[in-house]
Amino acid sequence: MSSPARPIGVFDSGVGGLSVLRHIRAALPAEDLLYAADAAHAPYGAKSPQFIEARALALAEFLVAHDAKALVVACNTATAAAIVRLRERFGLPIVGMEPAVKPAVEATRAGVIGVLATSGTIESGKFAELVRRFGSQARVIVQPCPGLVERIEAGDLEGPLTRGLLDGFVAPLLAQGADTLVLGCTHYPFLTPLLRELAGPSVEIVESGAAVARQLARRLAETDFSPAQGAGGERFFSSGDPALLAALLPRLWGAAAPVERLSAG
Ligand code: DGL
Repeated sequence: MSSPARPIGVFDSGVGGLSVLRHIRAALPAEDLLYAADAAHAPYGAKSPQFIEARALALAEFLVAHDAKALVVACNTATAAAIVRLRERFGLPIVGMEPAVKPAVEATRAGVIGVLATSGTIESGKFAELVRRFGSQARVIVQPCPGLVERIEAGDLEGPLTRGLLDGFVAPLLAQGADTLVLGCTHYPFLTPLLRELAGPSVEIVESGAAVARQLARRLAETDFSPAQGAGGERFFSSGDPALLAALLPRLWGAAAPVERLSAG
């Protein structure tokens, strides 16, 4: 008799990880997915690495208690702060995010790339190492984006406030010759239509969601000997007001779904 299918646990500070969850669903249609949004503590961007690490451990505990067989840290900031500790603590496949600096360096024709990310990601040792490894072939300009995650959490993907903020972050990168922009925060792919409008058609926009979903599929193929067979389902959890996440799901996930209350840590 085959053992019951176990879900994959995915978490982020809020709705950003839904941009990754879409790629995971496309890559692994049969898997059950748990999504945990730490909305009570979002945004993570400017919080201390110690605080973010504690939150990541609490969210991982919650997902493992729900029988997760693998974890995806669908947040660049939490990956930078906590992936090492998570891997020490939990003996299951754990896939994290990192800004797509390597693909951007390969894609740029001008030799200049702009990285949009939270200050937590940009100031991390992991990011410094990434730029050291892959950034020597191009000029890498980093741009923290304070306030942007809050606009996306509010569901404002194209209003004047979001447009003004994004333009203020992107215009200096374009003025310095960047022809390739890295979305180094999982919230930002939801702004791709607006960014495309602001940056114009010739600028390349790169993100890591699809690569992370492929990496997860590879890890599961190596370790999961009773893969899911049915039609995969999702369960959504929020540490904030479940109604707020539920209201955003149709637009950001593509379907309405119930949201359960998450208490972790
Ligand atoms: N979505 C997250 C990331 O990829 C964190 C955003 C935040 O909470 O500041 O970095």
